[in-house]
Amino acid sequence: MPDDSPLQPQTGVPSGPDFGPLGWKTPDSLMLFGFWYRALPTEKLSRGKLVKTMLLEQALVIGRDRQGRALALRDSCPHRGMPLSCGKFDGEQVECCYHGWKFDAHTGQCRLIPSLVPDQNLKVDRIYAGSYPCEEHDDFIWVFVPDAGPSGAGFTKAAPAPTPVPEIPKFSEHYKLAYLTADLPCSVDHGIIGLMDPAHGPFVHQAWWWRTRHSIHEKQKNFEPIPYGFRMSAHTPSSNSAPYKILRFYAKADSITTTIDFVLPNLRSEIIRAGKYWFSSLTTVTPITRNQCRIDVVAAWNIFRWVPFGPELLKFVFAKFVEQDRHTMELQAEGLKHNPHLMLIDDADRPAKWYFSLKSAMLEMKKSGGEFRHPMSGPVTLKWRS
Ligand code: FES
Ligand SMILES: [Fe+2]
Repeated sequence: MPDDSPLQPQTGVPSGPDFGPLGWKTPDSLMLFGFWYRALPTEKLSRGKLVKTMLLEQALVIGRDRQGRALALRDSCPHRGMPLSCGKFDGEQVECCYHGWKFDAHTGQCRLIPSLVPDQNLKVDRIYAGSYPCEEHDDFIWVFVPDAGPSGAGFTKAAPAPTPVPEIPKFSEHYKLAYLTADLPCSVDHGIIGLMDPAHGPFVHQAWWWRTRHSIHEKQKNFEPIPYGFRMSAHTPSSNSAPYKILRFYAKADSITTTIDFVLPNLRSEIIRAGKYWFSSLTTVTPITRNQCRIDVVAAWNIFRWVPFGPELLKFVFAKFVEQDRHTMELQAEGLKHNPHLMLIDDADRPAKWYFSLKSAMLEMKKSGGEFRHPMSGPVTLKWRS
């Protein structure tokens, strides 16, 4: 693919030959359906509670049944559209607050229509409230958002998810887990390319205990294609990366390796290993509406387990980074309101270009039903200063 022009002027958002056969003008309006997304942290959901949320512009109500299992329904009654989140939940069935129809909280199947008299033989169990496959993993409730509209609803039952929920790789039996979450006032695309952008580090992520803008230096990294994404191949992490600085207390610098993967629709995973010690994270940027997204970072590690305040310290470092990114994107959102001309440059923005190409290939595959045409044909070395 023609990926080597150093400078690409663009209108508003990336488009044109590098961005695939669809050549969309507003990626902001395009969200990838047919994937699992993080809906909310598990600790926000107690038994018998209903919580309203939104994913890909679909209003959802998330709940937890009596046994503690999570569930996700479309937040709209199939009768006349009342939000089900306004209704009652007894831990098994959800009762709509308008006419009292009751639905199985997991399948959405209708169980009762109170207005029916005995000789009216409407088949209640043929009616469904929309429901979504829903699972809990690594401190988050995940919801599968299917390709064609809300799962189920009307007279259709929801289909099971075709793929398993993404999980954080773990390399020992005992480990710690922590998460961070922040709302970003931008489209999922700006959220994702902001996440994979190496060049903002020296300017955005400054702290006296961390780095200054003068620590900028030349870097060279190898990338390779992986299914539906790309990998920054295993290497010794940058000397100014957070987990690296921590791991140096435990292991020799040259025994530390890190691998960073990006996989559609929104998954960035980072694995750092140093002998028997490891640190692993899965960061997602989830589209809420077309100009609003949320970043969730969940990390697991077996370092620091015996150090008092270890997890708090790690969380403090990450919280600081995420807040710097959030604040930056808030400022950027101001600028983007006026639909300015944008550009992506080589090599620092090459991962962003791959992201748009991968997304475009995914949309094309869904449209044509053909094969996924990966934009990378083999390994690539990129250089930048950061
Ligand atoms: S709108 Fe829900 S029961 Fe009528
Ligand atoms: Fe950042």
